[in-house]
Amino acid sequence: MSSHKYFSEITGIGACVPEKVLTNHDLAKMVDTSDEWIQSRTGIKERRIAEADEVTSDIAFKAARIALEKAGLSPEELDLIIVGTVTPDMSFPATACFLQDKLGAKNAAAFDISAACTGFIYGLSIADGMIASGKFKNILVVGVEILSRIVNWKDRSTCVIFGDGAGATVVQPAKGNRGILNTYIKSNGKLHHLLNMEGGGTMYPAEKVKEHPEKFYIQMGGKEVFRHAVSCMGEAATKIIKENGFTVEEISLMIPHQANIRIIDAITKRLSIPEDRVYINVDRFGNTSSASIPIALYEAYENGLITKDSLVLLVSFGGGFTWGSVLIRF
Ligand code: ACO
Repeated sequence: MSSHKYFSEITGIGACVPEKVLTNHDLAKMVDTSDEWIQSRTGIKERRIAEADEVTSDIAFKAARIALEKAGLSPEELDLIIVGTVTPDMSFPATACFLQDKLGAKNAAAFDISAACTGFIYGLSIADGMIASGKFKNILVVGVEILSRIVNWKDRSTCVIFGDGAGATVVQPAKGNRGILNTYIKSNGKLHHLLNMEGGGTMYPAEKVKEHPEKFYIQMGGKEVFRHAVSCMGEAATKIIKENGFTVEEISLMIPHQANIRIIDAITKRLSIPEDRVYINVDRFGNTSSASIPIALYEAYENGLITKDSLVLLVSFGGGFTWGSVLIRF
């Protein structure tokens, strides 16, 4: 990890979660589960579910509008839109292009990235590098998912975990001695089979749906995912803190991917970071994949947990496997 100084900063944050709430008690009427099982294994009490007529770019649009307003930027001023999602509006064109159209961001380039739960961290890392290159100035980075559309509602081992939502940030050139201090991203494609949705691509196209319906839903090796999530997020957090000359004590707030409370607790212990410096909202929104960190960032910022000079650590892990971290001085 090379040393790096303030190329870019986050100037606006927005988030949107659908209004419809699905509680653990609701789920217990749909599959053989209980509020007690879900809470003790995942920490989740409820999650949000998009309306049937809502698509991914709709909730991305609502989060993006808030982020742009906070940054004092008009959509026309955007020169790049990056959307991290594994639940796009359609296979192509990119959800970022639908978002561009909805925003009226006619001067931007737009593309999606597929890094599962690490999508937002990958997006911030790309945006920081694009700004460092001098080619782009006003970048919108979005993490958004409607996972309720790819969850098998008959599979109790996955359907209790996920939720829908969107978070967005505006990233611009840093004006002073604050902003994104560094980013770190990594992947291990050997473990692609542990968390995926096989259907809908060239391996299992639409004509295979009757033969293999299970492949058109999220599949997950829960225990393996758990083990790798803890070790990779631990590595990404430790690496970015140490290699940029900081100690854990100097971190004002850690915002981990809201995968489940036991993963978050294990990382908190591994890093020896005080619990009151770890942001948690998985109880209210479940695992919203690439949207989880920007939604949490928005809440933490709006609730005054992030102030001037706060040193904030974002850390995530997801399908691929992919993982990464971002260190920000606000
Ligand atoms: N309600 C009740 N029982 C259930 C449920 C449920 N919703 N789901 C599974 N079970 C049962 C299983 O069938 C099994 O029963 P059996 O012993 O009779 O076979 C029993 O509970 C234990 O199942 P396990 O899979 O061993 O349960 P485990 O303790 O591993 O917990 C869990 C499962 C919560 C998925 C866990 O493995 C986990 O947290 N994994 C991490 C997965 C994760 O967070 N994924 C998110 C996506 S990746 C990411 O964002 C990083």
